[in-house]
Amino acid sequence: MSATLVVKDLMVSYGESKVLFDIALTVDACQVVACVGRNGAGKTTLLKTIAGFLKPISGSVTSNDMSLVGRASYDVARMGIKYVPQDKKVFSDLTVRENLELGSYATHDYDWQRVTSYFPKLTTLMDRKAGYLSGGERQMLMIGRAILGSPKLLLIDEPTEGLAPSIVTQLKEVFRELSRKTALVIVEQNLPLVCAIAEKVYAIKDGRIVAELTDRDAIKPAVCERYL
Ligand SMILES: Nc1ncnc2c1ncn2[C@@H]1O[C@H](COP(=O)(O)OP(=O)(O)O)[C@@H](O)[C@H]1O
Ligand SMILES: [Mg+2]
Repeated sequence: MSATLVVKDLMVSYGESKVLFDIALTVDACQVVACVGRNGAGKTTLLKTIAGFLKPISGSVTSNDMSLVGRASYDVARMGIKYVPQDKKVFSDLTVRENLELGSYATHDYDWQRVTSYFPKLTTLMDRKAGYLSGGERQMLMIGRAILGSPKLLLIDEPTEGLAPSIVTQLKEVFRELSRKTALVIVEQNLPLVCAIAEKVYAIKDGRIVAELTDRDAIKPAVCERYL
């Protein structure tokens, strides 16, 4: 079967400044893949390019043998590839319910039961304006909205950045659960979390993949650390 995501020879720049070089990666159906790397390594640029927000200079991005390059971000989303950005932007003047409704309009998926089964807390927050949510609650809303439409691939950028340990533990379980039906590409600096959930880890340094760890014994914080 063809892979959920295949990236080959990807080069990306902002104007004259080249940021990603010769990136190659593969994600299989329902696989959990992590990308680690220091600030500025190019992780967000990679996810944004896959999601259709940035156009690469060269290289290919395919999902189940269909090319994503040149497609608009909404078109990529419609193909079942959802991006959860790093900045945790929600519609802050809208309630949680209204934020989810927007996700439902876009996907024609009104099965909020699935969303609240992953994030029971959201049930009690439906009438709260998203601007008043804590960082953890906002992340729940963003991921909850992203799983509407049952995407085949979620691209999640630094989901646990700045969150309390109890929320991180909760998200870890959610990622495990989600991966029964969805492939995940998670960009994360929390190496213990990465190593607890990822089946494959790519280390990115200065815009290049410097390591690909697939062996269970190699997916350890101390090993990942070496490549940062
Ligand atoms: N919009 C932008 N315009 C110009 N340079 C950018 C832009 N966004 C990011 N960069 C640069 O690209 C490099 C990679 O950034 P980024 O992908 O955000 O890294 P990471 O997510 O790994 O921290 C950095 O050097 C950053 O300064
Ligand atoms: Mg980033």
